[in-house]
Amino acid sequence: MVAKWYTTNTGQSLAEFSKLAQRTAHQLARGSVVLEVAPGPGYFCIELAKLGDYTITGLDISHTFVEIASKKAAEAGVLVNFRQGNASAMPFADNTFDFLLCRAAFKNFGQPVRALQEMCRVLKPGGRGLIIDLRKDASMESINHEVEGMGLNPINKILTKLTFRTMLLKSAYTREQFQHMLAQANFRSVDIQEAGIGFEISMTK
Ligand SMILES: C[S@@+](CC[C@H](N)C(=O)[O-])C[C@H]1O[C@@H](n2cnc3c(N)ncnc32)[C@H](O)[C@@H]1O
Repeated sequence: MVAKWYTTNTGQSLAEFSKLAQRTAHQLARGSVVLEVAPGPGYFCIELAKLGDYTITGLDISHTFVEIASKKAAEAGVLVNFRQGNASAMPFADNTFDFLLCRAAFKNFGQPVRALQEMCRVLKPGGRGLIIDLRKDASMESINHEVEGMGLNPINKILTKLTFRTMLLKSAYTREQFQHMLAQANFRSVDIQEAGIGFEISMTK
């Protein structure tokens, strides 16, 4: 039920996924091998698949989300391999991916450092990762403003604001916490930028 609610809610922000996919595609070579860690309904993967000749995989721990995302990809007529698995123990060989994205999910991981180490392991040397997630110090005012722009109906607006306040902010990380965790993975370089209510963390192996 939560998966369906999230799918419908984020479906109102398709333009945002499309923008992120376009930005990503600009930086990808033809034929790049791409992973989304925790894709949920799969909107980013599907939008990216429409833009070029990439091999795209989505790995999510939820069987329900894998089912929803696979169905949405089939409806959109694109090929994305959505599969079930844990970000902290990925079922992929070392040095597999050119690029990976993890959006709005990292704060949910039970073993976040393990997940970072796995991201590093499965990227090719020179490969790049991007984590986009909420900042713990985002103000409720800025969150309310963000939710207002999501195109939600009044009830979902209230529910979404409540979810941010009661759950998401509690599990979000500070810049210092990210720095501490990233130091335990083996990336060649990392860069943490504030972006709206979140961080964008770029990592290069
Ligand atoms: C809020 S959704 C974000 C979905 C998508 N990335 C987006 O931007 O809309 C969080 C996702 O993280 C997944 N997830 C949570 N823990 C995970 C783990 N350890 N490994 C893989 N996926 C996980 C959930 O099943 C869910 O699909």
